[in-house]
Formats: sequence, structure tokens, C-alpha cells
Amino acid sequence: MRVGIVVEKRFGETRVPLIPESLRRLREWGYHIIVQAGVGESIFLSDQEYKAAGAEVLPNPEAVYEAADILLSLHMPESVESLPTGKTLIGILQAWRYPEALKALEQKGWTVFALEKLPRITRAQSMDVLSSMAALAGYKAVLLAANHFLRVFPMMTTAAGTLAPARVLVIGAGVAGLQAIATARRLGAQVEGYDIRPAAKEQVESLGAKFLPLTLDASGEVAGGYARELSPEEQRLQREALATYVTRSDIVITTAAVPGRFAPKLISADMRKAMKPGSVIVDLAAETGGNCEETLPGKIQVLNGVTLIAPTNLPATLPVHASQMLSRNFSEFLSLFRQKADKPKLHTEDEILKATCLLWEGKPLLQPV
Ligand SMILES: NC(=O)c1ccc[n+]([C@@H]2O[C@H](COP(=O)([O-])OP(=O)(O)OC[C@H]3O[C@@H](n4cnc5c(N)ncnc54)[C@H](O)[C@@H]3O)[C@@H](O)[C@H]2O)c1
Repeated sequence: MRVGIVVEKRFGETRVPLIPESLRRLREWGYHIIVQAGVGESIFLSDQEYKAAGAEVLPNPEAVYEAADILLSLHMPESVESLPTGKTLIGILQAWRYPEALKALEQKGWTVFALEKLPRITRAQSMDVLSSMAALAGYKAVLLAANHFLRVFPMMTTAAGTLAPARVLVIGAGVAGLQAIATARRLGAQVEGYDIRPAAKEQVESLGAKFLPLTLDASGEVAGGYARELSPEEQRLQREALATYVTRSDIVITTAAVPGRFAPKLISADMRKAMKPGSVIVDLAAETGGNCEETLPGKIQVLNGVTLIAPTNLPATLPVHASQMLSRNFSEFLSLFRQKADKPKLHTEDEILKATCLLWEGKPLLQPV
């Protein structure tokens, strides 16, 4: 099987799905790796290093698409219409946002695996691209906030007086939120966390942060450990309950997400207006519409003294470590097909393949997108 990767530039991309370090194992499993020239440039890896690890280097994306059986991708590929027919795509595709591209892949007879649909089971943890990237985003969100905050995070007792610590609130305590809490704590802030999944309380507290005592009538958790989408009335009640905590915080980091849906709106314009000038909000849900009513994805706004940062693709600002993690995640996913003669096979009994396979040789499979 020939596995190809090309240079991805859309969405400010700097990450790479495979680094040379992973190629030895892949070759042992019978894979031949083809990369576009310059693929590792953004992370200081030369074509020579890929070659030395056994990869074949081709000059342009078209040549890679033509030669590869399996294409690894960090996003839904651009101009799907121009791709050859009958290949396999494995990627972070957010296919629910690209129905036309998926349709085109269907018509071209592609087999498609969407890694964002990996089940949260122990066996899939080493392939879990969302967790890898969320951890980096959570960390970087705090650094961004600190950079725009015109005060310090820790309490400082100096000869020139005492500086109060920053109050940080993290809403959404999944992988990104917990990493943000841990990072803000390391920087010395006073940290509070909140999530609609009751299980998050213990995790927030284990990091030394306070869990907000908000009560919603029904649990926000559904099977698989994910959050459910709240009803409009529940969302209104939640915003009301959150308002006091948001307005007294210096920094608010929002990470709330519901898989396959637009992000819940948790911070209204009125809540932002009531925040102190100098406060900072980092909305990590910007890519799926944002947790703040006023979020403009990819933009930094200063609204009556409150800085609202809505980064998209934050892991691409840490591309070296992000690529290292992705390379491990993609390789582990490819390990599911090793020892199989020459084509990926769909084992319908395999929970991981079943959950991630959107198309099998052009046929929509199992799960609606
Ligand atoms: N076992 C595993 O392999 C594994 C791997 C990764 C994550 N997980 C677990 O899966 C769960 C989801 O993690 P994630 O980071 O991918 O989640 P996510 O990115 O889908 O969502 C981020 C957080 O937002 C929260 N949220 C959603 N709507 C909200 C609202 N209205 N108000 C407040 N918070 C809201 C969610 O509960 C979640 O904690 C977590 O329990 C995580 O620990 C398990």
C-alpha cells in the first residue's frame, strides 16, 4: 500500500501528518510512503530526511495523488473534483461541514475514514487526533490570554507592593479545557472550571481548580462521555447562571463543543459588556461558530476594553509537537490495516473502523454524517 501526504496550506496549516520518525514502523508494516517535496519545511524537516527514512519524494500534489493508494490529510482536501478515482482518504475531515466534497468522493468511488469520529475507547486513544490537538490548543489558549492580558497571572509579593493573581474561568472541561486549567494553574492564576458533564467536576478539582456550583435539571452527558446539545431554554438558564462568574473573571477561556454540531453560545454580548475593561476572552470553539455571541472566527476584537480572541487552528501554531503527535495518531490508525495484503479491508466487527468509515468504495456506510 502506498501512503501519500501533500503540503497543506489552507487554514494557516503548518502541521504534517507524518514525520520521518514514524516511517520505519510503517515500512515494517509493508507501507510505502510518498511525500510531496517540501512537505516538512514548516517543521524544519528536509526532503532529505524523509528520503533517508525511506520515503519517495514527488514534486507536486498531483503526482502524489496519482501514485498513492491512501491519502492522509489534516482537512477535507481542496478541489476534490480534480482527484483521481477509487482511492482511500484518512483524515480530520469534519465531513458534516463539507457535504459537497463528500458527495464528490462518493461519486469517485473513494473509501473515506474520518478520524474525528474515532470512538473514545482505550484501544483508540493512541489514534485520537482530537485529543492530541485539543491538549495543545488548551495550553496555547492560556499563553495567548496571558499575552493580551495587561497584568500578571500569579500573585507577586514584592518590595513595591503586592500584585493580585488573575482570575481565570475555563468553560468546557474536556481535553482542551483541562489542559487550559492546568496551564493557568502553573502560571499561578486562581482558576475556576465548569462543564455540563457532572464527571468533569472531579477532574477540574484534581487540578486544583474550583468547579462552579451551577445546577441544571438534567445531566448534560450522553453515551460515549460526550456532551449533548442543550435545548434553547436550558441554554438560556445556563447563560443566566454563568453570568456572575463570567463578569467577575479576568480571563475566560471557552472550549465548549458538542460533536457534529455548532458550538453552544454561552457568553452573550451583555455578559461581555459587564466584564471589566482589560479582561480577555479566548474562544476555542471559534471554528464551529464560537461560544461567544460576538465571536468572529480568526479575529481579535477589543470591545469596550475587553479583548475577544477567536483563534482557529491553534495547534498549527505549535506545528513541531503537533506533527509529532499527529504522526503517531495516523500511524496507529494505519496499523489497523497492516498485514492485510494490498487494500484496507473493512472489518465490520472492528469498532474503530465501523465508527470512522464514512464511505466504502463510494458507498455511504453505517453512520449518517
Ligand atoms: N477514553 C478516551 O479515549 C477519551 C479520549 C478523549 C476524551 N475523552 C473524554 O471525552 C469527553 C469529551 O472530551 P472532548 O474534550 O473531546 O470534548 P469536546 O471537545 O467535544 O467538548 C469540550 C467540552 O465542552 C463541554 N460542553 C459541551 N457543551 C457545553 C455547555 N453547554 N456548557 C459547558 N460545557 C459544555 C463538553 O462536556 C466537553 O467537556 C471528555 O469526558 C473526555 O475526557 C475520552
